[in-house]
Amino acid sequence: MSAPNWEMFEKRATIAEKEIVHLKQQVEWLYRNIMNNTSQIASDINKEEFERLQQENIKLKHRIAILTRTIQAERDKASALSNTFQSNISINNTLYEIFQRAITAAYPDILNPPVIVTTSNNPKFGDYQCNSAMPLAQQLSSPGNKVVPRTVANNIISKLEESPLVDKFEVAGAGFINIYLKRDFGQLVLSNWLKIGEVLPPYVEKKRVIVDFSSPNIAKEMHVGHLRSTIIGDSIAKLLEYLGHDVLRINHIGDWGTQFGMLIAHLQDKFPNYLTVTPAIQDLQIFYKESKIRFDLDEEFKKRAYECVVKLQAFEPDITKAWKMICDVSRQEFEKVYTRLEIKLIERGESFYQKRMEIIVKELESRNLLEEDNGRKVMWGEKHGVGIPLTIVKSDGGFTYDTSDMATIKQRIEEERAEWVIYVTDAGQSLHFQMLESCAKKAGILKSFHRIDHVGFGVVLGEDKKKFKTRSGDTVKLTDLLDEGLKRTLQKLKEKERDKVLSEEELKAAQESVAYGCIKYADLSHNRNHEYVFSFDKMLEDKGNTAVYLLYALTRIRSIARTAKVTKEELQKHAHDTPISLEHEKEWKLTKVLLKFPDIVLDISKDMYLHPLCEFCYEISCAFTEFYDKCYCVEKNQAGEIVKVHMGRLLLTEATAIVLEKCFALLGLKPVERM
Ligand code: ARG
Repeated sequence: MSAPNWEMFEKRATIAEKEIVHLKQQVEWLYRNIMNNTSQIASDINKEEFERLQQENIKLKHRIAILTRTIQAERDKASALSNTFQSNISINNTLYEIFQRAITAAYPDILNPPVIVTTSNNPKFGDYQCNSAMPLAQQLSSPGNKVVPRTVANNIISKLEESPLVDKFEVAGAGFINIYLKRDFGQLVLSNWLKIGEVLPPYVEKKRVIVDFSSPNIAKEMHVGHLRSTIIGDSIAKLLEYLGHDVLRINHIGDWGTQFGMLIAHLQDKFPNYLTVTPAIQDLQIFYKESKIRFDLDEEFKKRAYECVVKLQAFEPDITKAWKMICDVSRQEFEKVYTRLEIKLIERGESFYQKRMEIIVKELESRNLLEEDNGRKVMWGEKHGVGIPLTIVKSDGGFTYDTSDMATIKQRIEEERAEWVIYVTDAGQSLHFQMLESCAKKAGILKSFHRIDHVGFGVVLGEDKKKFKTRSGDTVKLTDLLDEGLKRTLQKLKEKERDKVLSEEELKAAQESVAYGCIKYADLSHNRNHEYVFSFDKMLEDKGNTAVYLLYALTRIRSIARTAKVTKEELQKHAHDTPISLEHEKEWKLTKVLLKFPDIVLDISKDMYLHPLCEFCYEISCAFTEFYDKCYCVEKNQAGEIVKVHMGRLLLTEATAIVLEKCFALLGLKPVERM
């Protein structure tokens, strides 16, 4: 297909605009004429002429309205086309717009008509479907006048404009409109990807986004819940970065509060040389637990702990030094996990907002937004009495998690200029974030254009379906978990005798890629709202929708061109002159799956659910298997020598690899050459 000329549409729009200016002048002139005539009309002279001019005026106004609509339509087409051929088109959005225009043209009297476009689950019913005729028919029917959906569907079809995406539309069944994609369109998009060497993101309006994720607590253990937040948050950040947003990845660690007073007071008794000797993380965690028990039982100790907090807030040197030491020990432990999983984050913990907490409390107080509640100062959201109020000041005068989040959101919106803030934590905190958003709106921090998302997730369970714990009932240490993953993966690779085929380096790369990949993938491939069972056996299966299967699928796809002795660079060159083979039913099926990529990515940026991306990877690899079973890419003779390389098909395998690779990058999986 020759690339349509969207400049032509722009030109047409400009011509129409000029015509409008001209018409407006005419109307103006006519109007003046009428005004001039009114005195005469008053004396009943020239009444006919007046009426003629009035009629003319009405007609011209109509003409202007039509032209304005035409301009808009031409502009829409122009932008849809330039989108198609310049970056990465969303098929869903394009079809939606096409149908919206056709439905409006067919039924101009219906305000906001239902426009329903979906992908079709059954090839018998097209590739996509428009299901608007049924609800429209219902809307159009009145007692005694039943409108049939099929008639509506035919009416819509008669108004559909030609589209470079669509081969044909047809009415089916009760009034469904089946939509068939055009192979030329697939050809154009895929060869663009091959020429560029990667899949470009679909167009979105760029925003400044803060993703608050991982966020473990100092001195407490980083548990599997934090692992989930780390994995999901990293993937969301990757996706938003890919779409071109300006993303700030923030690790909002819990590094402030009463727990430090407790811990330091306890260290003074149990580990008096804490200022010169640094305790190990394990010891620190034990001290933390002990201090918590003492704090709850021993009034004297509690008093001392609070004194330490006051001293810490006053930056007393020794106490500050102890606090720093405790933070450093924990930080090193977190860092190990981030390094292994290759996760980048900027640490900006709760302590960063201390001064800002004091400021926001004063501000809220002076604006009468706080109210007394049993000695506490609380703040209700926009609707008083709905949900639970935030505790801004405790009865002892101290600040809380709520206070710190109010100060934090203000800093993010006003100082960081964020337009969109995403919090990734367990679902248990969802009410907290609802109230936070509501209070921030009430305080005027958030305006209507700001977007806040709480990306919640369910708890991690062990294979016994109980809360994930070690055999002795302790929290599972994340580094131990990663080690276990490595160990099990190596066992698996050895079972398959991969150690005999791969070099030592290759084996290590495969082991790490599979172990960390399967932990991430198992998390991301489940609907994040559900609780999920952590099982190495399941995640290391090499069949089904697992990281192992997919990583292996990609190496297999890449090895096809290698067998044919065609390099990536050569493929890229061929993309300019060799058409991708799309004739065979399986080739075309695979292509249609790949073309969904932009829509999958756009959907995630709307609802923050990542599992459809995993399902998409699996769908690609299944469609690829079907294609590869039926379509030879390389033909060999009996002696095993290559007799024919089917370049059009090799290009299709490369396009598949490019899309899969992009998905892996977004999911944090690291592909390997061999495994
Ligand atoms: N540290 C908290 C926890 O472990 C998570 C912090 C999330 N971020 C926030 N701004 N509240 O549950």
